[in-house]
Amino acid sequence: MQIVTSVVELREIVNRWRKDGERIAFVPTMGNLHAGHIKLVQSAKSSSDRSVVSIFVNPTQFGQGEDYATYPRTEQEDFLKLEATGSDLVFLPSVAEMYPDDALTVISVKGLSDLHCGEFRPGHFNGVATVVCKLLNLVQPDTAFFGQKDFQQLAIIRKMVQDLNIPVAIESVETMRESNGLAMSSRNGYLSSEELNIAPKLYRTLCDARHKILAKEKPYTAIENESVEILHTSGFQVDYFRICRSNDLLAANPSDNHLVVLAAAKLGRTRLIDNITVNLTTV
Ligand code: PAJ
Repeated sequence: MQIVTSVVELREIVNRWRKDGERIAFVPTMGNLHAGHIKLVQSAKSSSDRSVVSIFVNPTQFGQGEDYATYPRTEQEDFLKLEATGSDLVFLPSVAEMYPDDALTVISVKGLSDLHCGEFRPGHFNGVATVVCKLLNLVQPDTAFFGQKDFQQLAIIRKMVQDLNIPVAIESVETMRESNGLAMSSRNGYLSSEELNIAPKLYRTLCDARHKILAKEKPYTAIENESVEILHTSGFQVDYFRICRSNDLLAANPSDNHLVVLAAAKLGRTRLIDNITVNLTTV
């Protein structure tokens, strides 16, 4: 497994592979890899001749007062995990390599980026879109893999790729969870043992909301409000809990069939996000 820190070297290697007609799969990450990331990496590995993983804690997607400085950086452990999956290359750029002082361009997927997490983390998705666009240009993969755990991020990246005609297929991978339902996340490491006991309640509340939607007994706003109340009582500070259309992430109407329930809530200083999809066509 090659570990590459420079853009020039990355381009040389990738160009060689492309010249040899090899198909490249790519997984962008911020490191501190857990089983969710590894699922993406394994999917990438099995889909292509070459697999590339980036590890870059992207400063432009963190807001002021957020956890950029303390975000867990565990490169040596990450390399061992990636080596074990048979990845071909890890791209580990510095901040200066990704953002030279004279860089002026920002990618913004308007509208979609202002909803939900964007309301609570202004500028976050511009940072995500910009870094993912740059990484896709650098790696030039045939396929790139993203987790459904970050449902809004996935929607924004799909739209960016469509709008900018980026020649890559975006594949999504289902959310990997702990046995108690908690979605795996690098930020789970911030939770105290007491908070770790409460955290699975977020997914349980999403599952309960899904049952209520399928039962078609209550208006969506009533289900949302009840869910917020349950989470609040459990000790969460809820940013949002919303029943949306899965295609555009706007509020769902009773006539919509493909839904996603999106939630973000804090336990102490740790912000957790999760979601669940609901398909009403088979009901
Ligand atoms: P990061 O949080 O490291 O996640 C990297 C990828 O792993 C994302 O596509 C994310 O959706 C996926 N992922 C995270 N937890 C998962 C889980 N429990 N199950 C399945 N997949 C999971 O998301 C980012 O980094 C950054 O925003 C990035 C896209 C790298 C841009 O900086």
